[in-house]
Amino acid sequence: MHSRLCLGICFGCTFHLWQTHLAIGDSVHQPEAAGMTEAMLPVIQRSQPPRPQVPRRFSADMRFVSYDPAWAYLPIGFPPAIGQGVFACDADAKAMSIRTMRHFPGMEQLVTNITYLYLENSSHHILGGRNPVCREIHLSGQKSYSDLFSWAANPHLSEYIGQKVVAGRACSLWNLRSKNQSKMSLCAAGNVPVELNITYPKNDGSSFNVSYQFGPLSSQVSEHLQKPHICDRLAPGCENGRNRGPVSLDAYIFHPAGEYNLEDQDVGDLTGDALFICVDRLQNKSFMDHNYTLISRYALEISPAFGQYALCNGYPPTCVGGDPRLVGRKTPSSVGDGESRCAAENPLGFWFSLPKGGRCEGQRRPGKDAWATGCSWSVQKRLKTIHQDCLFKHDYLKICMADAHERKGFARTSRALEAAFASEDPSIGGCADVQPESSTAVVV
Ligand SMILES: *[C@@H]1O[C@H](CO)[C@@H](O)[C@H](O)[C@H]1NC(C)=O
Ligand SMILES: *[C@@H]1O[C@H](CO)[C@@H](O)[C@H](O)[C@H]1NC(C)=O
Ligand SMILES: *[C@@H]1O[C@H](CO)[C@@H](O)[C@H](O)[C@H]1NC(C)=O
Ligand SMILES: *[C@@H]1O[C@H](CO)[C@@H](O)[C@H](O)[C@H]1NC(C)=O
Ligand SMILES: *[C@@H]1O[C@H](CO)[C@@H](O)[C@H](O)[C@H]1NC(C)=O
Ligand SMILES: *[C@@H]1O[C@H](CO)[C@@H](O)[C@H](O)[C@H]1NC(C)=O
Ligand SMILES: *[C@@H]1O[C@H](CO)[C@@H](O)[C@H](O)[C@H]1NC(C)=O
Repeated sequence: MHSRLCLGICFGCTFHLWQTHLAIGDSVHQPEAAGMTEAMLPVIQRSQPPRPQVPRRFSADMRFVSYDPAWAYLPIGFPPAIGQGVFACDADAKAMSIRTMRHFPGMEQLVTNITYLYLENSSHHILGGRNPVCREIHLSGQKSYSDLFSWAANPHLSEYIGQKVVAGRACSLWNLRSKNQSKMSLCAAGNVPVELNITYPKNDGSSFNVSYQFGPLSSQVSEHLQKPHICDRLAPGCENGRNRGPVSLDAYIFHPAGEYNLEDQDVGDLTGDALFICVDRLQNKSFMDHNYTLISRYALEISPAFGQYALCNGYPPTCVGGDPRLVGRKTPSSVGDGESRCAAENPLGFWFSLPKGGRCEGQRRPGKDAWATGCSWSVQKRLKTIHQDCLFKHDYLKICMADAHERKGFARTSRALEAAFASEDPSIGGCADVQPESSTAVVV
């Protein structure tokens, strides 16, 4: 399994956590609990500005700061992601859209443009800029709209902190009364939201925060809150891969011991997997448990008519958001138009999804017509399997951190992974084959 839950899911997941852990009303101090009674509230309020009644329907350009470590598959401890975005909500329609645009650190040409669209009970993640791909994500069942502002108007839920100036605008600061690490604070100029901070708990006990600074409010919301047509269909197989025979893929996968079935799993090319292995370890991806210990390299043949990438997880695996037959492809962090699904190259490498429904049986190979029908991928051979401890003994994580800090791509990290597979000689970074029966026979 490759827990290639790109930033999309990680973030969506935390929304869900926030909703379950901080269902407004029961997870916050009630006046009684805080030693207050309704009668006392007006007295407290006398010295305070009126509570903000944020418009129920608005859109605004915004500047955001996010400490979500998963946003770009970067090692933890990195500076926050900072960028521009667009916020839109309609409380009556129970709809909200949050679009953010981020440059991959040090690689300004690589942009992740992601929109989270919450429509009542559903949650869509739209990625890929000018040629976007849409995935409906219901990771743990319920994922839905939540009102980020109405708490501020409720004297039981909001607490006045004081006056503040944000980007030259004076505003009153209000905190959500919260007993635990789920926090929200809003700075509002009258009823106009100026800045909203949210701290989301993670289920490993830590938390992360995001901050949105809103520009002037606009009443143009419908363009942002309508579900785009792309959400009702999968992205088509790449035009430039149609009527072409299969191409070779040198594929890598980080996986648990004893699991050699690639059906409904995600794999990476050398660069794509080098980045994945590094960040998976450095981030302690605990929200999705897995016991990856081995890394295997396979020779695959795949149809280049790539379809929409599926986020696959687990053994037995479950996949969401991708093509059930075509090999899916995208870049880490979904950088580039169309997540670079059909692009020739990408400095961060590529990830591929291998749907069970596209596996070629027996000795069959994907045909030229694989874009339209038939199987789309086949396994030629598992080439080698190494143990993660060997790779990490060769300073893999240190090398990756050095690449990350230098911000010029992950070339040294990729070379370290390559060297681990190229030989068994530890003096040149080689690793032993821990599962040498490398024939297709053992590939289930
Ligand atoms: C936050 O507090 C509420 C009750 O006050 C509790 O139900 C919830 O589990 C807490 N969330 C976290 C992340 O601790
Ligand atoms: C949304 O959730 C509500 C309450 O749980 C339910 O009544 C309604 O049927 C759901 N709507 C959709 C479209 O699933
Ligand atoms: C970001 O993606 C959306 C589609 O999701 C697109 O409409 C918008 O133009 C993109 N913005 C940029 C700057 O690429
Ligand atoms: C949000 O967080 C930033 C930085 O951590 C802080 O400077 C700002 O005052 C906070 N704003 C609100 C509304 O809490
Ligand atoms: C947000 O998270 C960062 C990194 O963990 C931390 O340094 C900062 O103080 C947090 N800001 C707020 C407002 O909680
Ligand atoms: C990951 O886990 C290891 C061992 O449990 C711990 O030492 C390390 O600090 C953790 N790293 C992060 C970023 O949480
Ligand atoms: C991971 O391995 C540990 C120890 O072998 C086991 O207890 C745990 O259930 C495994 N977790 C998963 C998700 O398979």
